[in-house]
Amino acid sequence: MKQFDVNGKIALVTGANRGIGRAFIESLVKRGASKVYACARDADSFDSLAAIDNSIVEPVLLDVTRAEQIQALTTKVPELDLLINNAGVANACFFCADNAADIARLEMETNYYGPLNITTALLPALKRSKGSIVNISSIAGISNFPSLGPYSATKAALHSFTQGLRTELNAFDILVTGVYPGPIDTRMTEDFEMEKAPTSQVADRTLDGIAEGRVEIFPDNFSEQMYAAFLNSPADLEKTFAEMHQL
Ligand SMILES: NC(=O)c1ccc[n+]([C@@H]2O[C@H](COP(=O)([O-])OP(=O)(O)OC[C@H]3O[C@@H](n4cnc5c(N)ncnc54)[C@H](OP(=O)(O)O)[C@@H]3O)[C@@H](O)[C@H]2O)c1
Repeated sequence: MKQFDVNGKIALVTGANRGIGRAFIESLVKRGASKVYACARDADSFDSLAAIDNSIVEPVLLDVTRAEQIQALTTKVPELDLLINNAGVANACFFCADNAADIARLEMETNYYGPLNITTALLPALKRSKGSIVNISSIAGISNFPSLGPYSATKAALHSFTQGLRTELNAFDILVTGVYPGPIDTRMTEDFEMEKAPTSQVADRTLDGIAEGRVEIFPDNFSEQMYAAFLNSPADLEKTFAEMHQL
């Protein structure tokens, strides 16, 4: 079983300026990563990212929907051991809403095509290092969460991408891991009235998980419980999520 310890390794995190992405940067530095590319689509956060440890953290401008910025990574990042596809967008939207297709298209660009294109661009470096890829999906990618209908579909697509990539890269000794959080305390969930786990818990449980060679990580109590319910009966979990919305 492939295990991946971040100590002494080179990592890249997308959507690093806040939320779970920033927690990954902090945890990677604490665990002895030798270099951490902290990607954000806006340079406003660069000073505060570099301030985490400017000898290790290198901020990089990256909008995951911009082809030319993704292409530029291939020269900016010549060596890489760990890619964390974290950047994501979520809009409250039901599939029956008039704008559902527009929201779906926009979210797919960021949450599915973004990780796909970035992984493709950085794969030669990851193959050379026999590294690791972590995709931040969601428990909503395992079973649709109705008020985040199109978002859940993007995270299901990312889950499927993660599974296919794992099989394809097995021969290259690259660990491919999916992470499936429940509600985490970030700007994305600021309107949710639910108990939320801290961002540091997602980062720490993910990095602990890949050190143990885990391919699926449920980093909080909610996602652990919901995944156990899914394994017991996918239809029952679908019903549980519907009841949370009184549908
Ligand atoms: N919070 C939760 O409960 C939860 C649960 C399950 C999964 N997740 C997933 O966890 C990941 C991180 O989310 P979060 O909770 O930390 O939310 P967040 O605080 O809203 O952070 C989202 C991050 O993604 C970045 N981003 C969005 N679109 C981007 C683009 N086109 N290019 C580059 N960066 C982009 C944002 O940058 P800007 O600041 O520029 O917008 C921000 O850094 C997401 O994939 C999310 O779907 C979150």
